[in-house]
Amino acid sequence: MKKLVILTGAGMSAESGIKTFRGSGGLWEQYRVEDVASVEGWYRNPDLVQRFYNERRRQLENAVPNIGHTGLAALEMDFDVQIITQNVDNLHERAGSSRVLHLHGLLTQARSSKNPGLVIDIGYRDILPGEKAPDESPLRPNIVWFGEAVPAMETAADIASGADIFAVIGTSLNVYPAAGLIHYVPATIPFFLIDPEPVSVYTSHKVEYIRKGAGEGVLIMTERLKY
Ligand code: APR
Repeated sequence: MKKLVILTGAGMSAESGIKTFRGSGGLWEQYRVEDVASVEGWYRNPDLVQRFYNERRRQLENAVPNIGHTGLAALEMDFDVQIITQNVDNLHERAGSSRVLHLHGLLTQARSSKNPGLVIDIGYRDILPGEKAPDESPLRPNIVWFGEAVPAMETAADIASGADIFAVIGTSLNVYPAAGLIHYVPATIPFFLIDPEPVSVYTSHKVEYIRKGAGEGVLIMTERLKY
């Protein structure tokens, strides 16, 4: 089976009702991204950050995967599909995708604020004010914030460099190091881009641009992959 590697971003989940980051004038669900998704924001106001992610977790519990997510899961019948996502939702998994690498963490997990490896599953429940990790440090969302290293990056680069086909869906490719993954993709393989808006892809690949939302775009890509 050919190895189909797919890099997804916030636009993948837009049709499930989850807002993108850069679509709303610098605000993310009414909050400034730098207040709620940065290490500085966490030190400045941990209660605000916890409240924000508690809200996101509750929203996720009620969200459902869209036909883009289920379309990618269905591609596993014909391809060795590996998803690399910048999203912190679990909609790829809930749609049935079996290989999903989360570059920026996962809403349904919390971790120690001292030890990034001490991760616990919390499902959709809130992190409570003052709640502690097993090592007694404050329990925080297991999210990679601006200003933090991306531990899964090396694995993601290995996966991208082994691709036979590559696709980018619903990401503005503004945030590094994730956006740099496209430079690991072998030069001559098919390269799809699905996004309703133009995206600057700085690569020498011949990009097959499907200017559609994720749902319709995945259906079109699936048709094209048959030939
Ligand atoms: N289908 C597909 N793509 C869509 C849709 C849709 N229905 N609606 C919007 N988009 C596209 C937008 O045109 C844009 O190119 O999704 C992209 C979303 O881009 P961003 O909001 O910048 O999100 P993303 O690239 O995932 O951001 C990366 O930034 O804030 C951090 O850590 C956070 O993982 C996030 C990272």
